[in-house]
Amino acid sequence: MTLYVRLGVLLLCLMFFAGAVDRNNFKTCEQSSFCRRCRKVEAGKTPYEVVPMTVTQNGSTLQADLFNKDTGVNFILQLTALKDNIFRLHINEKSPLHKRYEVENALQDHPRQAELNIAESQSDHVTVTSGPSKAIIHFSPFRVDLYSDDHLVVSANARGLMRFEHLRTKTVKQPDDDSSNNKNPEETEASSPEYPGDGAEDDPGAWEENFKSHQDSKPHGPEAIALDFSFPGAEHAYGIPQHADSFALRSTKGTDPYRLYNLDVFEYEINERMALYGSIPVLYAHGKDRTTGVFWHNAAETWVDILSSADNNVVESIVNFVSGSVKKPQVDAHFMSESGVIDVFFLLGPKPLDAFRQYTILTGTAPLPQMFTLGYHQSRWNYNDQEDVAQIADKFDFHDIPMDTIWLDIEWTDNKKYFIWDSRKFPNPLEMVQNLTSKGRKLIVIIDPHIKRDSTYYVHNDATANNYYVKHADGKDYEGWCWPGASSYLDFFDPKVREYFGEQYSVEKFQGTTNDVYIWNDMNEPSVFNGPEITMPKDLIHYGGWEHRDVHNLNCMMYTQVTYDALYKRSGGTLRPFVLTRGHFAGSQRSAAVWTGDNAAEWEHLRISYPMCLSAGVAGMSFCGADVGGFFKNPDAELFIRWNQAGAWLAFFRQHSHIDTKRREPWTFNDETTQIVRDAIRIRYSYLPYWYTLFREHQVSGYPVMRPLWAHYSGETETFAVDDHLLVGDAILVRPVFEPSVTEVSVYFPGEGRDTWYDVDTMQEHKTPGATRIPVTLHKIPVYQRGGTIVPRKMRIRRSTAAMKNDPYTLVVIADAEGNASGKLYIDDESSFEYRHGKYVYLRLSFDGKVLKSGYIDNLANLETASWLERVDIANPPKGVKSAKLTSQNRGTVNLEAKYNTNNNVLTLRKPGVNMGEEWSIELVN
Ligand code: NOJ
Repeated sequence: MTLYVRLGVLLLCLMFFAGAVDRNNFKTCEQSSFCRRCRKVEAGKTPYEVVPMTVTQNGSTLQADLFNKDTGVNFILQLTALKDNIFRLHINEKSPLHKRYEVENALQDHPRQAELNIAESQSDHVTVTSGPSKAIIHFSPFRVDLYSDDHLVVSANARGLMRFEHLRTKTVKQPDDDSSNNKNPEETEASSPEYPGDGAEDDPGAWEENFKSHQDSKPHGPEAIALDFSFPGAEHAYGIPQHADSFALRSTKGTDPYRLYNLDVFEYEINERMALYGSIPVLYAHGKDRTTGVFWHNAAETWVDILSSADNNVVESIVNFVSGSVKKPQVDAHFMSESGVIDVFFLLGPKPLDAFRQYTILTGTAPLPQMFTLGYHQSRWNYNDQEDVAQIADKFDFHDIPMDTIWLDIEWTDNKKYFIWDSRKFPNPLEMVQNLTSKGRKLIVIIDPHIKRDSTYYVHNDATANNYYVKHADGKDYEGWCWPGASSYLDFFDPKVREYFGEQYSVEKFQGTTNDVYIWNDMNEPSVFNGPEITMPKDLIHYGGWEHRDVHNLNCMMYTQVTYDALYKRSGGTLRPFVLTRGHFAGSQRSAAVWTGDNAAEWEHLRISYPMCLSAGVAGMSFCGADVGGFFKNPDAELFIRWNQAGAWLAFFRQHSHIDTKRREPWTFNDETTQIVRDAIRIRYSYLPYWYTLFREHQVSGYPVMRPLWAHYSGETETFAVDDHLLVGDAILVRPVFEPSVTEVSVYFPGEGRDTWYDVDTMQEHKTPGATRIPVTLHKIPVYQRGGTIVPRKMRIRRSTAAMKNDPYTLVVIADAEGNASGKLYIDDESSFEYRHGKYVYLRLSFDGKVLKSGYIDNLANLETASWLERVDIANPPKGVKSAKLTSQNRGTVNLEAKYNTNNNVLTLRKPGVNMGEEWSIELVN
């Protein structure tokens, strides 16, 4: 064993047996020089003011000079009106010493501009309008107020915490210069009596920062940016994933801010604001009347402070200034980033789904996934060999449990040389893939971004020869340490590297694979075991000369985008790629699904998976899940059952565990557990038509697939802090069991008194709003369908989604108080891009108390499908129905038998038999 391998094994053991996160590995705000500088800014004393004479309009943009009275530095401020009720505020130095980094790739396209009009121009402010929105730029002190429908919804720099550290040269002070007392004698910026300076030079970490044994050379010195946002009327803030914390963000008064810095945090703890693997700098403030978001378009390390009304009184003065003295709730956020420019999008809502949609208008939605990706995934670190994989697949069949994919973790490789199989364990990977695909299943293998420094490894040799690695400032290849031991890291910002790495996925190059092998990208924060905070040093250099500091949070996405594009290309653009990523940033939804990383087999970790995925969902990453069963440690049967039941209602449903855990396939506990887990998985499969329809709607509308209750009940304050329930779309309410040995749980039924929820098994009805204790057994978690909805299902459960493709549908119709219901169903070939050419059907399903109808939402689309309508269940049906009459073009008019079940008040119509590609109607007959 080489030293590296031995150290690796040791680290692995330490990782597994260590009880909790090692906080010493990660910085606090106080240990981060820019964070402590930004956090020190005193409220109410902003030195920034707009120079009135410089205000000009250029199309959709209002531009002005912004002057810092403390430093004498000028900035350019631009406020741009965008379509869909969005404003963009951009501030950069007027004449920076060198270019400052502006994020690329997070935005999907150039945001579409909207008409902007100057409504009023005064000596102390200018007012612009765009559609229903208005912005007022106050000159001195500088502040921007944004109004939606004449309500002030967000104010930037209202607390005066803006900070923009201009680029400067490091000057060496003379020892006798008395302005240097109590400052680092060598490293400071010249200030003049007229402009006292911004104090950055007082910070010992301004030009060089040390953490543990690591030194950050900081050649550009201090360059932080920060801005505060106040949201009058908001009761809570949400978003800025990824944190293992409640969905509603907590006040950071007296604690560290929430941190956004992609990190590999071993054994992360819950209820923490520490950084995790992903960073999405979008925050929503929500109150009874409206939802407003800010998207902080910055890829550098960022910290975010949150205050609520209860925390301070600066807040009150801002509200009072604008709306008189009535006390209103308010949330405040303060974003602080290490470098870059101020570039922020205001998402003016006004409703929750509007704000979520506005974010995806900017950063894109998740492409429609293949159906198999929504099925059940079976993973562990590791399935040992080809034989193991075959046996696992067989056992799923033996136990009659559906399963769509088997995953191979890092041990499939030849000593962590990605793209090369360990030929001892996997002598015939093509045969293994073929065994799976013959049963409609897929293989997913891991490809990590670190490259083993091994002269027998072609990727390393190519990368070295072509200068593909991320570099030190002196031009040498950076070398870190990860699973393979000594490793280097490809620079995915370089288009040549992207092209090169993408080519490696082609079936010709990636031997032993076919188009049915999909990809898991892990460790892409990037994880560097011996790097500062277990990641890459910030002073490394990427393509274009940018420091890693500038692009750290975006780095992961450059990598997954390559994978997505490569898989697309691999199939000649015929198959929808599937990539799972751990690191993520704004826009990652366009290329990958995400999971919550290395959780533990503990009840609290099960519980936190819901707020974590809700948070990811409102930040565009709807395709989110958590390792079912917990990654570290071994769940007991009860926890395992509850985890499967809860996991079945998150978008991404994968069981995965650490190499040192016991085997935990569904049949490894006892018969009862096998049976209950089988049921949970089968229920998931029965709802796949609904999930699939929601993913299609997400792609088009940007609405998250899994939603917080307040997404639909925005005025119901009781829902604002609920994060152990979620809505799947707007029709299903789920409240898993997150506690051991309970016989009942409290379920909150949202609905503003208007809606009613029905237990999906018994059809027992629950009025709203309010919380009720609901009895639970081990066999069931509370799941409800809303009255007034139609949910499509498939009730013939088979071994995989592929096997169910042509199966018939069941429609579950629950009439509301007026007897009506509606829903949608999207169907296509479940795998290709043919839907882009109109090969799909998108159906509007409606019931008016007498007639149930299916009609095309999109008349131009059409699909030949073998699926037909097998059954209709109508809960709350009208009284006295004896039969029904189906009418469609192909079937003509057919009489159907109607059977009423008095126990659950459901009328069942069996075998309407009509093809799902057709329009049809069914009339109930008395
Ligand atoms: C870290 C990932 O989070 C985990 O899921 C995986 O099993 C290990 N890396 C090994 O690849």
